[in-house]
Amino acid sequence: MKNYLSIHDIGDLQTAVQEAIELKKNPYGFEHLGKRKTICLLFFNNSLRTRLSTQKAAQHLGLNTMVMNFGSEGWQLEFEDGTVMDGRNSEHIKEAARVVSQYADIVAIRAFAGLIDKEKDEAEVVLNGFKKHASIPIINMESSVAHPLQALADAITIEEHRTIERPKVVLSWAPHPKALPHAVANSFVKMMKIQKAEFVITNPVGYDLNPEITKGCQIVHEQEKALENANFVHVKNWSSYSDYGRVLHQNPAWIMTKDKLGAAKFMHCLPVRRNVVVEDAVLDGHQSLVIEQANNRTFAAQVVLKRILNGLSP
Ligand code: CP
Repeated sequence: MKNYLSIHDIGDLQTAVQEAIELKKNPYGFEHLGKRKTICLLFFNNSLRTRLSTQKAAQHLGLNTMVMNFGSEGWQLEFEDGTVMDGRNSEHIKEAARVVSQYADIVAIRAFAGLIDKEKDEAEVVLNGFKKHASIPIINMESSVAHPLQALADAITIEEHRTIERPKVVLSWAPHPKALPHAVANSFVKMMKIQKAEFVITNPVGYDLNPEITKGCQIVHEQEKALENANFVHVKNWSSYSDYGRVLHQNPAWIMTKDKLGAAKFMHCLPVRRNVVVEDAVLDGHQSLVIEQANNRTFAAQVVLKRILNGLSP
């Protein structure tokens, strides 16, 4: 594998999930692969899980790790070609990506959507800038429109808790005071489209995700109807896609409660706002998988890194 930019880069999902489950049993089994190699993690946005789980996965594989909060510590980057750089941007992506490629063997990037300009967000300016100009493999640690490491971790979690061959999995929108990106939901949808499962998306009218991504999915606007007989409920907020980046309303009726969850397992990528997105009783109850999802982030990252390292010359 050269890059991991989308969940589809992993190839066969079930094979990758089984590989992760095996790595979990023996995390240091491939420690030799990363010896004398370096991964550079560049964060243009905040993180807890992605930062620590990717570092831990790298450690399991013997990789050296360099971490930089690029958004607050790096030079302001310019991405346009031919610009007269007499404004606030100090360094061009052409140099920055090539310079990082001198110090590291793999670069991982987190750069969220601005949620103002849909076209700009969908162009994935930062991620694609590095892809174009770096000479080393690139990993997406959550970009404007995708979070494939989270989706792979969620696939591992579903596999570990599946009690029937074809469970019903529901992706349910939840209220939130801030405008949040679509990346987690988009990658979860893409992953579910290649899962052995019945999959339903439920969200209020006005909050439908990108129709190109949800094409072929069942979308139900009545939450209770969608939740009937669910085995897994993955809860996530996202801002409007059609009225791009706007919070149309924060309807509290969409909060996930113990009653609505029924017998299903609860999933959320974290961080989560308690008693806004989901009530305490769910997060503190035995049906919550959120800590296991966070733990599986390490093994999702480890599968990705192992495959990339296998493709590098010794
Ligand atoms: N789920 C997730 O990506 O968490 P962080 O934003 O803390 O990395």
